[in-house]
Amino acid sequence: MKRLPLELTVNGEPYSLSVEPNRTLLQVLRDDLDLTGAKEGCGEGVCGSCTVLKDGNPVRACLTLALEAAGCHITTVEGLAEDGVLDPLQQSFIDHGAVQCGFCTSGMLMTAKGLLLRDPKPGKNEILSALSGHVCRCTGYAKIAEAVEAAADTSAKER
Ligand code: FES
Ligand code: FES
Repeated sequence: MKRLPLELTVNGEPYSLSVEPNRTLLQVLRDDLDLTGAKEGCGEGVCGSCTVLKDGNPVRACLTLALEAAGCHITTVEGLAEDGVLDPLQQSFIDHGAVQCGFCTSGMLMTAKGLLLRDPKPGKNEILSALSGHVCRCTGYAKIAEAVEAAADTSAKER
């Protein structure tokens, strides 16, 4: 299949790639850029484990063609920490025991990050609604929701 040029920014780094039109953003991130934080669970938009931010908005990378990300800023879980310091959400997930096997974690974090970018102090219902499109087989969800709520509190106090 003929490849097409693709320019995008991932975690602040510009990339010029050449990709087949049917490749997904998830494939390009994981296979071409070696950013394996976004996971392939279902591969059909159901589980949320592949979620990344596209211009600040959470998207399912398994359902996004790589070419749809042309000219966009993509953030993956690898881009959350800054200068070796974890994002408050990452720290909160650790502090609240919100990670078990970790397969769902990067997707949960990226959706939560998108939520806090939109609304720095979401209520519990907003948090649960944002996370409702994610599947976790381990934690029972309560600790994840608590972790997001606590991170929102911390971020709001730091403002
Ligand atoms: S792998 Fe994308 S939603 Fe499940
Ligand atoms: S921590 Fe294992 S799937 Fe969520």
